Amino acid sequence: MDEKKVIAVIGATGAQGGGVCRAILKDAGGVYRVRALTRNAGSDKAKELKKLGADVVEADIDDVESLKKAFRGAHGAFCVTFFWDHFSPEKELAEAKNMAEAAKHAGVRHVIWSTFEDTRKWVPLDDRRMPTLMEKYKVPHFDAKAEANRLFSERGVPTTFLLTSFYWENLIHFGMGPKRGEDGNLYFTLPMGDRKLPGIASEDIGKCAYALFRNGGEYIGKTVGIAGSHMTGGQMAAALTKALGEEVRYNAVSPEVYRGFGFPGADDLGNMFQFKRDFESDFCGARSLAFSRTLNPSLQTFEAWLGENRDRIPVEKGTRRASG
Ligand SMILES: NC(=O)c1ccc[n+]([C@@H]2O[C@H](COP(=O)([O-])OP(=O)(O)OC[C@H]3O[C@@H](n4cnc5c(N)ncnc54)[C@H](OP(=O)(O)O)[C@@H]3O)[C@@H](O)[C@H]2O)c1
Repeated sequence: MDEKKVIAVIGATGAQGGGVCRAILKDAGGVYRVRALTRNAGSDKAKELKKLGADVVEADIDDVESLKKAFRGAHGAFCVTFFWDHFSPEKELAEAKNMAEAAKHAGVRHVIWSTFEDTRKWVPLDDRRMPTLMEKYKVPHFDAKAEANRLFSERGVPTTFLLTSFYWENLIHFGMGPKRGEDGNLYFTLPMGDRKLPGIASEDIGKCAYALFRNGGEYIGKTVGIAGSHMTGGQMAAALTKALGEEVRYNAVSPEVYRGFGFPGADDLGNMFQFKRDFESDFCGARSLAFSRTLNPSLQTFEAWLGENRDRIPVEKGTRRASG
C-alpha cells in the first residue's frame, strides 16, 4: 500500500506549480505523491507530468466542486492564481475563495498560498504618488492576492503565505529582456532607479515550496518570502553583458514612463516596480536570500540562471549603425 501523502498542485503545467511538482517527483524517496491539477489531462505538459510519476487530475479553479474533488484526501495543496490570463483582481479573489473553501471542505492539512504584499498598506488609495487602478487598487495583481489571505485564515485553513519574487523567465517569455535601441545598443529597461529588485528562477519557487511542505509544522500560519538574488538594474545589465557577450546598458526609466508603455498591464507593472523601488528595504527584507537558501540549498543566483538560460533570451541581432 502506498503510504505517501498527497500534495495537490494547482497550476501544475505552469511555472510555479510545475516547479512544485518536479521538486516533489525528483525526490523519489520522499514521503509525498504529486496530484497535478490541470484543466486538460490530455495536454502534452500534463502527459509529461504523468510520465514523471504524477497523478494527473482535472480541475478548474473557477469551479469549486471540481476543486473539492481534486483536494479530496490530500495532505497538502499548493494554491496559485493566474492574474495575467485575465487581468481581473475580482476573479483572483473568487478563485482564491474557491481554493480556501475546497481546502477546508477536504480537510487539507497544509496549504501554501502564493501571495504578495498589499501595497495599499504602504501607498493608500488617496496617495497620489502612483495612480489608483480599477478604482480599488494600487497594484491590482498584488493587492488582490494579499486581500485573499484572509479567505484562508478566516476559514481556519492551515496556510503558509508565500511571498514570491520577479521570475527571471520574464526576460524570456514576458518581453522584459534586453531590447536593441535605435542606436544599435542593447538596453535593459526597468523603472527601479538604483534600487534592488528581488528575483528568482521560477523553478526555485517550487523547490522552496517543497521544503515548506516538508517542514509544515514550522511554517503553518506564517508568511515567508523567497528570492535568489537582490540586484539593481545596473547589476542585472552587467550580468547580462557577461552572459550574452555583448554590452547591455541599463535603461532606468521612470515609473510614469513605464506605465505609459501601453502593453496590457503596463500600469499595474509600473506601479509594482515603483512600490519595489520606493520600499526597497521592506520588500527585499521580506525575501531573505539566506533563508531562501536554507529552504533550497540549490537556489540559483541570477548569474547561475543566466549561465543555464542565456540562449533562451530572445535578443535581436546587432544592426549597429555606422557612424562618421
Ligand atoms: N511573472 C512573474 O514574475 C511572477 C512572479 C511571482 C508571481 N507571479 C504570479 O504568478 C501567477 C501565475 O503563476 P504561474 O506563472 O505559475 O502561471 P503559468 O505558468 O502561467 O501557469 C498557468 C497554468 O495554470 C493553469 N490554469 C490557468 N487557468 C486555470 C484554471 N482556471 N483552473 C485551473 N488551472 C488553470 C494552466 O494549466 P492548464 O492549461 O493545464 O489547466 C497553466 O498551465 C500570477 O498570478 C502572477 O501574478 C508572477
